[in-house]
Amino acid sequence: MCGIIGYTGKGNAQKIMLDALELLEYRGYDSAGIALLKEGQTQIVKRAGRVKDLRNLCAEVKPEGTCGIGHTRWATHGGVCDENAHPHRFGRITLIHNGIIENYRELTEKYALEGALVSETDSEVVAAVLEHFYAGDPYSAIRRTVLKLKGTFALAIMFDDQPDKIYAVRNVSPIVAAVTKDGAVLSSDVAAIVPFTADYFVMPEFHVVCLSPGGVEMFDLSGDKAPIDWQKVDWDVSRGGKGGYPFYMEKEIMEQPQVIRETILPRIKDGRPDFTAEGIPDEILAACKRICVIACGTAMHAGLVGKSLIQAMIGIHVDVVMASEFMYNDPVVDKDTLVIAISQSGETIDTLEALKFARKCGSPSISIVNVKGASIARASEHVIYTCAGPEIAVASTKAYTTQLAVLYLITARMAVARGLWSGEKVTEFIEELQRVPQVMERVLEDKEEIHRLAGTILNARDVFMIGRGLDYSILLEGSLKLKEVSYIHSEAYASGELKHGTIALITEDTPVIAVVTQDKLKSKELSNIREVQSRGARVVLLIKEHETMDEGGEWSCVYRLPQMADAFMVMPASVVLQLIAYFVSLDKGLDVDKPRNLAKVVTVE
Ligand code: F6R
Repeated sequence: MCGIIGYTGKGNAQKIMLDALELLEYRGYDSAGIALLKEGQTQIVKRAGRVKDLRNLCAEVKPEGTCGIGHTRWATHGGVCDENAHPHRFGRITLIHNGIIENYRELTEKYALEGALVSETDSEVVAAVLEHFYAGDPYSAIRRTVLKLKGTFALAIMFDDQPDKIYAVRNVSPIVAAVTKDGAVLSSDVAAIVPFTADYFVMPEFHVVCLSPGGVEMFDLSGDKAPIDWQKVDWDVSRGGKGGYPFYMEKEIMEQPQVIRETILPRIKDGRPDFTAEGIPDEILAACKRICVIACGTAMHAGLVGKSLIQAMIGIHVDVVMASEFMYNDPVVDKDTLVIAISQSGETIDTLEALKFARKCGSPSISIVNVKGASIARASEHVIYTCAGPEIAVASTKAYTTQLAVLYLITARMAVARGLWSGEKVTEFIEELQRVPQVMERVLEDKEEIHRLAGTILNARDVFMIGRGLDYSILLEGSLKLKEVSYIHSEAYASGELKHGTIALITEDTPVIAVVTQDKLKSKELSNIREVQSRGARVVLLIKEHETMDEGGEWSCVYRLPQMADAFMVMPASVVLQLIAYFVSLDKGLDVDKPRNLAKVVTVE
């Protein structure tokens, strides 16, 4: 949460900061600010609101300089107001911070800061502690300050008397840095680095990086120069921007066939799933006695689909645990438990902490991550990257379906490693997986028809989504998507559970979206749909093409999903649910890509 940017060089730092903050805004958008350092003078411009509001303010104030830091905030400590916006300044120190300083109250007391602070933030306290220790040597002040901090932090710091220099240090919260043609840049993620260069590095924790117009240097906390592990951005930079769509969410939904191809094709060799490039040995897949998936939100919903697949096809027990609850439920994981951590950003703090705990318990681990070099990827024994490319819309779409694609590959490789499937069965499964992109393309061609379906729930206050088994798992995700981008209250319900209480809420004003894609559950699911229809509910039904509905009755809205093997029907059905959520949000005139109160990367517990 929170996006940070730092730049020093020959360019116009104001413009560079504002452009970068726009790219980082999906990380938090309560307030934004920049600070520019010029000839020993630091000028701060900040305010509550979006980056566009900050841009307007900068047009009036006209701050100047070639060295600056910028921040876009998701509020944790202190409300959303101008004073709490970053950068914060204390004495000769100006800084921006992403993370949470847990002991800021103790520090306030210890360094007698009460009355001297102008904001309610934990971040300003760090600036004050740095000022306390600063006697001309930034490294020493940073080292001494960091040793006092408890919590997570990515800090970019300017000292008034260190012209053209930006210092950075981090624990948990990410920072990447790069050299540009005329200086150096740092950021919370590569999205803001890509306009400058394809070469970057992920700052290791508890190291100090110094950016100057001459480049970047890194030191460990004992002051020794540390080597830099350079990496290359492997995104297709030309795919940046909205590509002509009004919102990133639509663009990212439309990209799914392509990114699923890119995720699966390199991992299929001679018609079989293959993780040689990832260095994942078959033993890890063959030996585990159970699997524990840890993830949050959408990524956890991907895990639920993985659970259904693996339990049905491999016959081993899979738990899917919300990472935010993992530590509080006395987790039982051991060397026989394969832990699979799923995360688009690779930075979700709860998932990261749960993974670290599981590794301490001796569990082998694989993470499924979208962002190269992210903390979860690095904390995991093995990593499989989804090739979704940058996902900018806060609501996850293409990251989810590429996570699913990887889970199909894992299931198939597990079956091979355990000698469970014949060659023919493997071929059949992989061929069906390879058909997913073209099936999704067919759904995407029906975008306008799905737009009309979305119209049927546009004015609803509450929506229920019902299904069983795999259908229920994808509805949990469909329901989350609708809630977060349209603000309509929606609940996914296992349709067999309705009669146990919830059906009391069904009236003619409660539209129900039902998904029926599993042959073995069809007749039960259709009966459950009848039950809600009898109570007046209007039903939007997603069902396989060619499926008969002998039960008769009225179907006001039906979408026929292109046929796949039942285990793969989640793919086309998910695209329809994503589009429904998207169009409802669009037609309500909401800010689809930046729903209220949310942020793309959740680095606080
Ligand atoms: C919803 C959404 C979130 C994320 C969750 C985990 O659309 O995107 O629920 O899935 O915050 O984030 P990652 O995958 O980055 O760990």
